[in-house]
Amino acid sequence: MSPPGGGVDAGQGQPALSDADFAALARLVREESGIHLPPSKRGLVLSRLSKRLRALGLEDFGAYCRHLKAPSGAEERGRLISALTTNVTRFFREDHHFAVLREKVLPPLLDNATRGRRVRLWSAGCSSGEEPYSIAITILDLMPDAARHDIRVLATDIDPQVVATARAGVYPAAALEPLTPEQRRRYFVPEGTGGGPGSMAVAAAPRGLITFGVLNLIGEWPFRGPFDVIFCRNVVIYFDAATQERLWRRYADLLCAEGHLFIGHSERLSRSAEPLFASQGVTHYRKRPAGPGAGAAPPRRDGATHNTETGT
Ligand SMILES: C[S@@+](CC[C@H](N)C(=O)[O-])C[C@H]1O[C@@H](n2cnc3c(N)ncnc32)[C@H](O)[C@@H]1O
Repeated sequence: MSPPGGGVDAGQGQPALSDADFAALARLVREESGIHLPPSKRGLVLSRLSKRLRALGLEDFGAYCRHLKAPSGAEERGRLISALTTNVTRFFREDHHFAVLREKVLPPLLDNATRGRRVRLWSAGCSSGEEPYSIAITILDLMPDAARHDIRVLATDIDPQVVATARAGVYPAAALEPLTPEQRRRYFVPEGTGGGPGSMAVAAAPRGLITFGVLNLIGEWPFRGPFDVIFCRNVVIYFDAATQERLWRRYADLLCAEGHLFIGHSERLSRSAEPLFASQGVTHYRKRPAGPGAGAAPPRRDGATHNTETGT
């Protein structure tokens, strides 16, 4: 039997989620994080949040929504976002980007660094740290004394739990499988405490290049850049089209002239943001210099007008 309000009961022991409560949760999540929850995500919401209801001793989603809206619900609003983010990541994910970083992007930047220029990279939506550590390892492979120069990697995520994991930098040995034996030897040390048998901790050199922080990409950014490289991969796929578009523009504003943007392989720039960037290959872009003609979107060769992965 459907619960009042046309909701669904996901099964025995799970609280019912009415249409009105789902809509209220989706609205709140969108306002707080930009994450878009279409009706197809109803099952995910139910399975991930039922645990939160149990932890709070609440019987139904109506009570949970009231708790979230109350002034005392501020902490729970953070937990709500943590529960609904997808944090899947791995070292050297989409390794083609790291080949480009190593072979094309970093050499001129590191060369400039030896002449005193600052180099800034940002892993935006860094999850549990594998992406920024992969960036730092790629830098150190090319420049073992990178710490002597003004080279920094900023790594941020909305979810404080994954940022804490990233900062701790302890991973099961199996997670290091994408690294070469030489990289494992140089950039990791066996972790004796806390991480479980066979855990490996990131060594001081990669850690030393990275600054971790909690940051909501749809909020204010407490820095002005400019950045030479931004990685924002497998993050905007969860946002609606308007939020994605605002983000591309903000990245363009924050990148230095001809700065690099890497996005996830199932993501694409919104059409109106295309004039801001020149494609360099698969999901790799460079900021275009501003100038005449920078306002008009070039026709798409494939004729597509929307993101086929997200349906936005
Ligand atoms: C699937 S992970 C991607 C991790 C990494 N970039 C990669 O490609 O392997 C997506 C991350 O985006 C983060 N995220 C989602 N919404 C965000 C927001 N509004 N601000 C910052 N990070 C956000 C999530 O917490 C999650 O850790």
